[in-house]
Amino acid sequence: MTHRLTVVGTGYLGATHAAAMAELGHDVLGMDVDPARIAALAEGDLPFYEPGLADLLRRNLAAGRLRFTVDPAEVAAFGDVHFLCVGTPQRPGSFAADLRQVETAVARLAPHLDRPALVVGKSTVPVGTAEQLAAQLRRTAPAGADVELAWNPEFLREGFAVQDSLEPDRIVLGVASARAEATLRAVYAPVIEAGTPVVISDLPTAELVKVAANSFLATKISFINAMAELCEATGADVMVLADALAHDPRIGGQFLRPGLGFGGGCLPKDIRAFMARAGELGVDQALTFLREVDAINQRRRARTVDLARAELGGEFEGRTVAVLGAAFKPNSDDVRDSPALDVAATIHELGAVVRVHDPKANANAQGRFPLLEYHDDVLSAVTGADVVLHLTEWAQFRDLDPEVLGRVVAARRLVDGRNALDPVRWRAAGWTYRALGRP
Ligand code: UDX
Repeated sequence: MTHRLTVVGTGYLGATHAAAMAELGHDVLGMDVDPARIAALAEGDLPFYEPGLADLLRRNLAAGRLRFTVDPAEVAAFGDVHFLCVGTPQRPGSFAADLRQVETAVARLAPHLDRPALVVGKSTVPVGTAEQLAAQLRRTAPAGADVELAWNPEFLREGFAVQDSLEPDRIVLGVASARAEATLRAVYAPVIEAGTPVVISDLPTAELVKVAANSFLATKISFINAMAELCEATGADVMVLADALAHDPRIGGQFLRPGLGFGGGCLPKDIRAFMARAGELGVDQALTFLREVDAINQRRRARTVDLARAELGGEFEGRTVAVLGAAFKPNSDDVRDSPALDVAATIHELGAVVRVHDPKANANAQGRFPLLEYHDDVLSAVTGADVVLHLTEWAQFRDLDPEVLGRVVAARRLVDGRNALDPVRWRAAGWTYRALGRP
């Protein structure tokens, strides 16, 4: 059955969700406060890079199932189910989440909700936020208690957002009534019928699922990176160690890739906001370990800088450093809290000329760090470099020919921050190969 859905906030999450819901056959209206973004989306232009999403967007615009607006009154008049997909970034100067976008979105929409509706939060919020928003809706919407709130966290990975939206691992529905559950089951019917497990919960549990999942993933990455520190102190090889651990099905190999660690718009800010919320709830001890997870992750960045400096004989001043990768991970142009750019900027501050190439993220990186040099191709970035740092594991970097690069660099020195290049190949071509956690 077709539903009339709206999506409030058309950033990364919202634009993907709007297109995916239209793809399921629903009539969807997306809204954002940014008129330029709305105009672009209405033309089928995405403000970020995400494989497959532009096609999904254009196909559903053409089919007439997807439209965009900046007007909350239009949203309220159109939809029966309103998804909240605005951002919840880290608050400046604090670990806590900045909830202003969520608060503003609800404050703008509520006065127009004059008939029964279901508002569904998808943004990642501190546990307890949903109960407060539900009360605010009851108080400020003309339809009062006929406006219900549910929480339906998203788990999509950048680079796989389309697949993760249309074929998710699970659907979590935090609901306060059987009616809300029935509505959301109907909205997701094609996905549920395809076999996706559904977990029904109360509101706080649904809010917690997301941050708990991301905390676990961050912990797993920092665990193997802590093992890398042990390997560095003992001459052991963390890649072999990780492989051996991964054969235990209780451990598993996913998110056990050692290297420069996690970044992006989710994992770092989610674990920090989770710690901040635990503090407010008086259970900060329960999450003290996440401080360590964060610290291990930050140390990997410092260690990568140290490896590069050691390769250069102890000084960055006046040297040229080539950096392959700027995005926080491959198949994305997102540079939010990117480990690669953090390392590049630090080395620049220490006096080196830093030449960066990323297949998709150069423009975003330049916006944040205009003093680094940006190059459209790998060869021009590495020409004359005293050391090459591989910091985001794009597939095309794996196929680079060490001999061809070797002809243009000033010296054949490589630091592989992602443990993704083949040491045998690079060493055979006369390169020094250094990597985190390996002899
Ligand atoms: C993450 C979660 O996976 C997703 O479920 C949630 O909804 C949003 O946050 P995303 O931020 O897109 O998604 O990236 P993800 O693929 O999880 O990678 C996060 C970071 O961890 C990247 O910087 C990646 O390079 C790093 N990473 C990942 C490792 O260092 N080692 C690994 O083994 C895996």
